[in-house]
Amino acid sequence: MKILHIDSSINGTNSVTRDISRSMVEKLTTADSSAHVIYRDLGAWPLPHLTLEAFADSSVVEEFLGADVVVVGAPMYNFGIPSQLKAWLDRIAIAGKTFRYTENGPEGLAGGRRLIVASSRGGFYGAGSPTAAFEHQESYLRAFFAFLGVTDITFVHAEGVAIGPDVRSKAIEAARGEVLNLAA
Ligand SMILES: Cc1cc2nc3c(=O)[nH]c(=O)nc-3n(C[C@H](O)[C@H](O)[C@H](O)COP(=O)(O)O)c2cc1C
Repeated sequence: MKILHIDSSINGTNSVTRDISRSMVEKLTTADSSAHVIYRDLGAWPLPHLTLEAFADSSVVEEFLGADVVVVGAPMYNFGIPSQLKAWLDRIAIAGKTFRYTENGPEGLAGGRRLIVASSRGGFYGAGSPTAAFEHQESYLRAFFAFLGVTDITFVHAEGVAIGPDVRSKAIEAARGEVLNLAA
């Protein structure tokens, strides 16, 4: 099994999504000791904004297509995803490689791989909450990867981490517990 592990938090070792994404990768590698992991830390080594020249470099999309499982640490920043993660997405949405337009509409070409997302948010954005309409992180990532044909998508959320230390630690503990229950 080939695992691509992406982090995108700017919070270094204090990052909640890094904590959760690391435990996801540990869970997968414990179950399959022959798993090969490629790690890309977009917070520490950001990709530049997309340029036309960047399309000439297919290394990022090839790395994505080489993975059976993609683990993504995706914090909510300003109701969406970090721009560091957006820069990575910009490099994997490549017509002819990960999607194509047909007479019947768009077709994803990157199916057959599993996506597991470690999410963290300062507040609460669940269905029915007052800020549910501000949620453009999970909904965006689900739409983006569905467009590429990725249908096996799991999110683990730590919510409310900015509310106070108690809520934060309970949210992290709950997320770690969910990771333990993930299918290997
Ligand atoms: C730049 C920035 C923007 C943020 N924007 C939001 C936001 O819009 N909504 C929210 O609930 N939390 C927001 N937060 C809080 C983060 O989602 C929360 O701290 C989360 O744990 C970040 O993940 P990380 O710890 O892996 O960096 C923001 C944090 C930062 C640093």
